[in-house]
Amino acid sequence: MSEERRKAIGTILEAGFQMESDAFKALMEISSMGHLDPLVKEVLRVAGTVEPRPASISRDLVLRAAEHLDLSGKTLETDHSGLGHGRRFAEDLESRLEVVSDPTGKLGTTGSFDDFLRYFRSRFDKMSLLFRQRMDTRNAGTISDALSGGSNGRGRFICMVLDKRERGDRIFLTVDDYEDEATVLVGRQNPTVYEIARKIVRDQVIYIQARKSTGPLLVAESIVLPEIPDRKPAHANEEIYAALVSDVHVGSKVFLEEEFRRVLSWLKGDIGTPNQRDVAERVKYVLIGGDLVDGIGVYPRQEVDLAVPDIYEQYRLAAKFVSEIPEYMDVVLIPGNHDAVRQALPQPAIPKDFAGPVYDSRKITSLGDPAEVRLHGVHFLLYHGTSLMDILSGVPGLDYQRPVEVMEYQLRARHLSPEYGKMTPIGPEQEDFLVVERVPDVFTSGHIHVSGAGVYRGTTIVNSGAWQGQTDYQKRMGLIPKPGILPVVNLKTLDVKMINFQ
Ligand SMILES: [Fe+2]
Ligand SMILES: [Fe+2]
Repeated sequence: MSEERRKAIGTILEAGFQMESDAFKALMEISSMGHLDPLVKEVLRVAGTVEPRPASISRDLVLRAAEHLDLSGKTLETDHSGLGHGRRFAEDLESRLEVVSDPTGKLGTTGSFDDFLRYFRSRFDKMSLLFRQRMDTRNAGTISDALSGGSNGRGRFICMVLDKRERGDRIFLTVDDYEDEATVLVGRQNPTVYEIARKIVRDQVIYIQARKSTGPLLVAESIVLPEIPDRKPAHANEEIYAALVSDVHVGSKVFLEEEFRRVLSWLKGDIGTPNQRDVAERVKYVLIGGDLVDGIGVYPRQEVDLAVPDIYEQYRLAAKFVSEIPEYMDVVLIPGNHDAVRQALPQPAIPKDFAGPVYDSRKITSLGDPAEVRLHGVHFLLYHGTSLMDILSGVPGLDYQRPVEVMEYQLRARHLSPEYGKMTPIGPEQEDFLVVERVPDVFTSGHIHVSGAGVYRGTTIVNSGAWQGQTDYQKRMGLIPKPGILPVVNLKTLDVKMINFQ
């Protein structure tokens, strides 16, 4: 073994990874023309982005690293031959985009007491319906039945959590339904129930089976979350892709303009390895999940983070980028908390007053947040993710660097912002648009600027990361983003490719 090879293996082992034999072979083959050192560096960088951290370097990981290096190789960037400049696969395919739900035009709370009452009733009714459709929870009674002893001193009911207190190893949930209120005790002697209770937050709607104790106290025997059923998701018949962009933050000093331009070049077929160009050819949909611009006055002292302090100019610049997305692709846009639209969820589509230049730049389907679309038969739930930080701070065991688990929590709770009124503004509309009524095949968010993908009970979960480097604000908050990675969903298999443009 040459000294260079020995050194490369040493570097990988020192970084704490084992090396699979296939991976070693691939590493040697690919680097036979040189470039071993940069390849090893890229392998370690890619391995560092995988969740959970792998124990060993696989062949697949080496190939991915090699692809990234190709992408940034100057020779490929200027290679305009071959793929990408004839008719492209997605160009000849008819678009199949249907809007399933959109809050735009349906909003209008005045914030009165009655509106709050109606909002929480809508939440309770929608969630109750989910429980009533399930075999194991359809026969729920009421809190009042349980308090009066139910059958054999036990009762089963659907309730909303009004309050949660933890005292030592006991959790007390104050719950109510339309008629009554009760306190439910969860003790550690039932570890399964205790673990569920630890992760429950105020305002969540749950199903409880409880035994009557003294006075208005009930002791929980089981707690059931609304959950999504385990099932086979729908898929497209053709191999066609949706690219998930979010949190572009045009106007920010740390907008990753160069990386984002490379995404546009890749979509146009101008750059990429042969494999990546094959995928680009088949991209039919581009979904923009909010925070298209950095906005103004979104957080204290934002002005120091802005390169473009004018919101109109930010959208004018954004329009230039959006106009470069090939014409035959369908673009869907929803707002985020940095966009120029009401901040309370659900948000309507970004108004023309601000985003006019974006709408004039090409055909765009502009929807509110959250919204649902069907793309080639695949049901997408699009949500910017404004509540993700609240869920992270309120639920034990979740981690900012693992966005998929936070989104899995939302699916299990069947609600995008289970706890009302922390940092997430929610408009008390007549209807709770944040209940996950229909089970999506793909659930996508952004907002926390950390990309990730996974599958939960048949639903593909994707967080689309960001195109903004670390802001001073994030530095102060100790948040480390993972930008510059584009998730691309294969609508035939629902597999997600993470293409690194860094
Ligand atoms: Fe963002
Ligand atoms: Fe955001």
